Amino acid sequence: MVVLSKPIAAVAVFISLVSAQSFQRLGTCPDLGCILPPDQADFLAGQRFDIRLEVHAPVNGSEATGNPNPDENFEFTIERVGGHRGILSGSKWFKVAEPKLEKWTFGWFEDYFARDAGKPSIVNVASKAYRKVYLDEAGEYKATLKYDGKTTTATWTVRKMEEVRKTRNILFFIGDGMTTNMITAARLIGHKSKNGKYQSKMAMDKFPVLGHAMTHSVDTFITDSANSATALYTGHKTTVDALGTYVDSSPDVFDDPKVESIVELFYRIYRGHVGIVSTAAVADATPAGLTAHTRSRSQYPYCVDSFLHGTTNYSWVDWHGPDVLFGGGAEQFYAGGKTYQNKDYYKEFAKEGYGVYLNNTSLQTAPNTERALGIFSVSHMSKWLDRNVWKENLENQGNHPSGNKGDATDQPGLKEMTLKAIDILHTRSKADKRHSSQGWFLMSEAASIDKMMHLLDYDRALGDLLELDDTIKASIEKLKDLGELSNTLIVVTADHGHGFDVMGSVDTKYMAAQTDQRKKRNAVGVYEQSGLSEYINTGDLTYSEGSHFPTNWTPRYALFAGTAASTDRRENYRVHQDGPRLPTTNTPGRASDDYYANAKDGQPDGIVVNGTLPLDQPQGVHSLTDVPVFAMGPCQELFGGVQNNIDIFFNMANCLGLSRTAHGKGQDPIGN
Ligand SMILES: *[C@@H]1O[C@H](CO)[C@@H](O)[C@H](O)[C@H]1NC(C)=O
Ligand SMILES: *[C@@H]1O[C@H](CO)[C@@H](O)[C@H](O)[C@H]1NC(C)=O
Ligand SMILES: *[C@@H]1O[C@H](CO)[C@@H](O)[C@H](O)[C@H]1NC(C)=O
Ligand SMILES: *[C@@H]1O[C@H](CO)[C@@H](O)[C@H](O)[C@H]1NC(C)=O
Ligand SMILES: *[C@@H]1O[C@H](CO)[C@@H](O)[C@H](O)[C@H]1NC(C)=O
Ligand SMILES: [Zn+2]
Repeated sequence: MVVLSKPIAAVAVFISLVSAQSFQRLGTCPDLGCILPPDQADFLAGQRFDIRLEVHAPVNGSEATGNPNPDENFEFTIERVGGHRGILSGSKWFKVAEPKLEKWTFGWFEDYFARDAGKPSIVNVASKAYRKVYLDEAGEYKATLKYDGKTTTATWTVRKMEEVRKTRNILFFIGDGMTTNMITAARLIGHKSKNGKYQSKMAMDKFPVLGHAMTHSVDTFITDSANSATALYTGHKTTVDALGTYVDSSPDVFDDPKVESIVELFYRIYRGHVGIVSTAAVADATPAGLTAHTRSRSQYPYCVDSFLHGTTNYSWVDWHGPDVLFGGGAEQFYAGGKTYQNKDYYKEFAKEGYGVYLNNTSLQTAPNTERALGIFSVSHMSKWLDRNVWKENLENQGNHPSGNKGDATDQPGLKEMTLKAIDILHTRSKADKRHSSQGWFLMSEAASIDKMMHLLDYDRALGDLLELDDTIKASIEKLKDLGELSNTLIVVTADHGHGFDVMGSVDTKYMAAQTDQRKKRNAVGVYEQSGLSEYINTGDLTYSEGSHFPTNWTPRYALFAGTAASTDRRENYRVHQDGPRLPTTNTPGRASDDYYANAKDGQPDGIVVNGTLPLDQPQGVHSLTDVPVFAMGPCQELFGGVQNNIDIFFNMANCLGLSRTAHGKGQDPIGN
């Protein structure tokens, strides 16, 4: 008996270490006491945020202590390290009333075995939330939660920053899911080289400063677009699916602790002008992350309401809507769609003085003096390849933004939307009476790089990447024409990557000629057999400047491209001429969460390639890679080197002069 006790104790220790990997009790919570924002959080001086405290009492499972009642008399204190105020309770520090106690219960699975067995571990919670507080002195802070005789601490840093505005405008491009590998592949098919030297450059290639950014989440190493949008817009890393909040354990998806975003800061401090442009539905994470505060990115109707009213039902910060909102996602706007409280959001925007535009032709007529809403398709917008090469794919989609089931055949591209947004922002901000309000922040997202990478439709992803590059080029020219180029910081980055690369070329003719499934693989040419890009016809070489897109999307020698992890699929390596690829389907005889290669994909001539992803993943997934950061204009030097994605927020906030300490009033040398 005595001999056995040691191995048993060792097993018990092992079990408690198993937690917090596939599933987590609460990822940001180091033990049974939780402080949000968590340990290591960085803040801009004056940035508004909420604090959530939780004390967990596990009822059962490996962490159960035998006491299922959380300590309701927990104490919370704050201290600025080296400061004069000493250690004060949260309510004294922030000069607010003590928040009321909240209680709830939640369940979580400790691992896949517990999930399969349907055995959640149950946790009782006691909690308090301090709302809309801020820290206004740079330095290090110690936040302490005392409960049940135990202590949880969090070290917070308020970054020291000059309170001087150094740029009038920021143009922030996000290539969703875009990696250096994708840029390299897009350059290969869109630009011609002679003996190993390109004869033209991409617009991104001409940026003077290049850095790269780590995209990890607060609690996992792979991120999603909501989580990373929060990092880029607020300087706070959060959890997958969360927009502008940290994630607490309560059932309400709207009560999680919020953090103020760059456009909310810019509007609150300067009444700055804001533009939001995306080729996705505007309720999608990357555009919505600028104004939405919810831990659930799929609250699309709420996300659209937040553009107009700021964070719904919550006194957060003043906000009166962007000057420009362009993209897809009409189903969250038209009456009878999936709208917030079943209201007609075209009407809601019109009531607030927005002109409403539903096609490219009418968008061009929008007066630059008025706020504009442009929504061009029911869901995400069509891809560059379908808008420009296989235009017949725009038909029979039933995606007209009016919701009338017609086709959205007159959609603008990212370039048209971005240039119009710049015109409107420029005109409206110049007309502003207050000098400090002159200036704008525009986020422009090439969303379908990511969406098409998920579908393993590399041609469409690269087409949209080249469209982003064309948009960057045209925007720089437009800013030059407006005399604003030297007043504008331009940043181009991505929120995360996919494990994409090109390993050679495929002779599609040889592949088709092989009858043996296995021998079809010999159509792939690697190293010296990879050859040169055939995506530009020989006669089409005369340019060195101008738009750069392939002129031949159906070359005999196609890219041998793939991602590091994939679903099952059929590959023939050819462009999908009849619309975006659908790599997997539920096939008869398989479970509904077992996705197998779509038999209609990769026909004719394709081969089945079995994947490595979990069977319930119908699409490709995001990957670990750092992403590139290109910068040009005022403060460009801040963006070089290896950085964290939150640094992009702090550097943009620094350049716009958004830091506000107790002593500094902030200077605004920009008005002229
Ligand atoms: C914990 O309790 C819940 C509710 O009684 C039960 O469903 C679950 O299986 C238990 N979990 C474990 C790990 O025992
Ligand atoms: C806001 O409050 C209204 C009225 O109480 C409620 O119907 C709605 O669901 C709330 N919305 C959110 C996002 O919490
Ligand atoms: C574009 O929108 C305008 C204004 O709503 C409308 O009059 C026009 O018919 C539309 N054009 C197309 C091609 O749908
Ligand atoms: C949008 O309209 C403008 C003005 O008519 C035109 O120059 C541009 O080519 C159009 N864009 C698309 C994508 O149709
Ligand atoms: C792929 O998986 C299917 C079913 O799981 C199997 O029948 C088939 O043999 C596999 N194909 C290859 C090429 O490994
Ligand atoms: Zn994605």
